[in-house]
Amino acid sequence: MPITTCVFDAYGTLFDVTAAARQAAEDGTFPQLQDRWMQLAGHWRQKQLQYTWLRAITDAHADFWDVTQDGLDWALEATGLDGDAALRQRLLDLYWELQAYPEVPAMLRSLKAAGLNTAILSNGSPDMLNGAVQSAGIGDVLDDVLSVESVGIFKPDARVYDLVGQRFGCAKDEVLFVSSNGWDAGCATGYGFLTTWVNRAGEPVDRLPWRPAHILNDLTTIPTIAGV
Ligand code: LAC
Repeated sequence: MPITTCVFDAYGTLFDVTAAARQAAEDGTFPQLQDRWMQLAGHWRQKQLQYTWLRAITDAHADFWDVTQDGLDWALEATGLDGDAALRQRLLDLYWELQAYPEVPAMLRSLKAAGLNTAILSNGSPDMLNGAVQSAGIGDVLDDVLSVESVGIFKPDARVYDLVGQRFGCAKDEVLFVSSNGWDAGCATGYGFLTTWVNRAGEPVDRLPWRPAHILNDLTTIPTIAGV
């Protein structure tokens, strides 16, 4: 089936999740971050994702903002940066205005110009996602922003991927799903979407029963994969 609908994961895929720790390190107010921001950003992301999986399998859902704060608190302690309320607040504030990767606006514009549906499908809560979409200025090239909050469970539960067909009335094999998370792209393949894994860091492929159909270094050629 031709692709009619392109759906994107948000954090790490359209928005640079390392930008919060990097910007806080660059603005000079927190010199203690200089040599530790990368370690902090890595721990923060890892724990944030682990907590989504653990909350999903134990049926203990909390929204992504709570999970993001829990992950940050673990990461701050692990890197010896806990106890600084101003630093914690600055990092959390920056998470609401993450930068989009530079190729994102043109890539989305070209999908829209070709008449395809475009959307975000994310663990993020609606208000977090709206903040990021607005600060990146990409609201006019997205048809919708779908949040797991409408089903109350995190990815990769199939009820999350079901939101795409429910919103756009499309078949699974008309959907190109794009994620920078190898596990998300793999599980979405298992669900039935055509998938692309955006592997900016050159990581090994996740050992799951399903593999992403395409692997890219960035989002530039997504329109080509979508048949535009
Ligand atoms: C999201 C996370 C998984 O946006 O990156 O859903």
